[in-house]
Amino acid sequence: TERSDRASDLEADSLKAFELRIQGCSDCGLCEGRNHVVFGGGNPTANIVFVGEAPGREEDLKGLPFVGAAGELLTKMIAGIHLDRQDVYIANIIKCRPPGNRDPQADEIERCEPHLLRQIELIQPSIICALGRFAAQTLLKSTTSIGRLRGKVYSYNGIKLIPTYHPAALLRNSQWKRPTWEDLKRLRFEYDGTQI
Ligand code: URA
Repeated sequence: TERSDRASDLEADSLKAFELRIQGCSDCGLCEGRNHVVFGGGNPTANIVFVGEAPGREEDLKGLPFVGAAGELLTKMIAGIHLDRQDVYIANIIKCRPPGNRDPQADEIERCEPHLLRQIELIQPSIICALGRFAAQTLLKSTTSIGRLRGKVYSYNGIKLIPTYHPAALLRNSQWKRPTWEDLKRLRFEYDGTQI
């Protein structure tokens, strides 16, 4: 009912309370095979939020985002623009692991995206970095390829948004490292004017 929706909205008025609510989510079929909901992690008042695709095996086992091979590279990417991983916030479009790391389905994205939206509302970052095709296309409501979306600054509900390649993609295609580095430098510059 509308009343209970409002009541739960009030309950969720902090990121931690919201996370506790999402830990029990059964809004889509991915809840059946998961070990953990991977809500996100980092500084809850971060000015920069990184958004990936979905948890993989390691993330599902630990309940934390980007803790596998792609996460190791993401940590280096963040350090490369002279920031600490613990100072930013890291989340995903999808909060539960798709079986066998298959692509997220449209209905799963549709069910899960409101959670990310709420999460971003609570964190209030000044800039978002969308990692890879799923994050960029979902947040920008676009079907354009990541190769064409990247290289520009967008606005997401009034928050600056910079799309770039996903670190897992960089591990397979090293030719994308150079454009990604350009995007990361742009991210840092748009964030606080620092030129690297
Ligand atoms: N890839 C993602 O998109 N997100 C994670 O959390 C881990 C790997």
